[in-house]
Amino acid sequence: MHEKGHRLVFTQTLTQAPPHNGRPPGDVPDPSAAEPGAIPSRQELAAGIEALKQERNAVVLAHYYQDDSIQDCADFIGDSLELSRKAASTEAEVIVFCGVHFMAETAKILNPGKTVLLPDLEAGCSLADACPADAFADFRRRHPDHIVVSYINCSAAVKAQSDLICTSSNAVHLVQQLPADRPILFAPDQNLGRWVARESGRELTLWPGSCIVHETFSEQALLQLRLEHPEAEVIAHPECQQHLLDLADFIGSTSKLLQRTETSPAPSFIVLTEPGILHQMRRRSPGKTLYEVPGADGCSCNACPYMRLNTLEKLWQCLHTMAPALELDEEIRRQALVPIERMLAMSA
Ligand code: 13P
Ligand code: SF4
Repeated sequence: MHEKGHRLVFTQTLTQAPPHNGRPPGDVPDPSAAEPGAIPSRQELAAGIEALKQERNAVVLAHYYQDDSIQDCADFIGDSLELSRKAASTEAEVIVFCGVHFMAETAKILNPGKTVLLPDLEAGCSLADACPADAFADFRRRHPDHIVVSYINCSAAVKAQSDLICTSSNAVHLVQQLPADRPILFAPDQNLGRWVARESGRELTLWPGSCIVHETFSEQALLQLRLEHPEAEVIAHPECQQHLLDLADFIGSTSKLLQRTETSPAPSFIVLTEPGILHQMRRRSPGKTLYEVPGADGCSCNACPYMRLNTLEKLWQCLHTMAPALELDEEIRRQALVPIERMLAMSA
């Protein structure tokens, strides 16, 4: 196989991989089944990935926003909190993080001795991008008496300046545990921060970041869907803007939304989050109907452009070449570890 554009194509032999047991690791079980120059099928790539996982002693962790084909190859699928916990406890030597950069970075912070791979190093996040470390340092300096709570969707350099990390799953629970007499800074998602403030009853000073996916949904389309399907429950991720959250029957992290579709008696759901989650919702609740909400300009463009940079081909490729791997400055890693470990302890 070799890469042609973004696709892997079959050639007579694999050129980069070292030989192992008479065949290169992760070669598809029956390469002769494919014509030279043909694009490998999803099944062939999945078989190659499975073989490489064994060869490398690797675990594949995938966020719910990944493409279905990647979710189907993962050893574990979860939301940001569950994936952090899994990254902290895995015994595999190699962690392949099918998610975005800050997630793989968190896995590396927790596992400095392990190889952490991200299929596409360009898979970033609008929230992390909107919070540069130097501007964040200035924000903190202007609020010296505040406890600094940062959403996990930020860089290691911002985590290193934080007192506590949270995810959308545990943010309310963690903020409620903070001393009542101390003011709190919350960064970088202002929508999540507003929701946490409302739910916890605490006043938060917010960094003005937002998620480009969750601020895309059309309120008009949501109201229309509610009219057409009055039996449906509206479920929303707290990264959505407040005027949409005000229309939701249930608000929660991706895992909580998934659980809700299983446990609620409602026959159908209008889902306000990235559509990758629908794969597991369909799987766990095959009898339920799911409606996606289009973007404000009428497009169905709510897939996260960063998350979707990872593909099955790139997953195979990164296991094959063991690159790209996450590298971190050790001083930043050590400082960033403290608020992450605090989060894991406080949300246990
Ligand atoms: P959760 O995984 O905490 O639901 O967050 C969703 C998200 O946007 C991840 O980037
Ligand atoms: Fe970042 Fe939003 Fe994409 Fe999550 S969905 S990775 S918050 S841009």
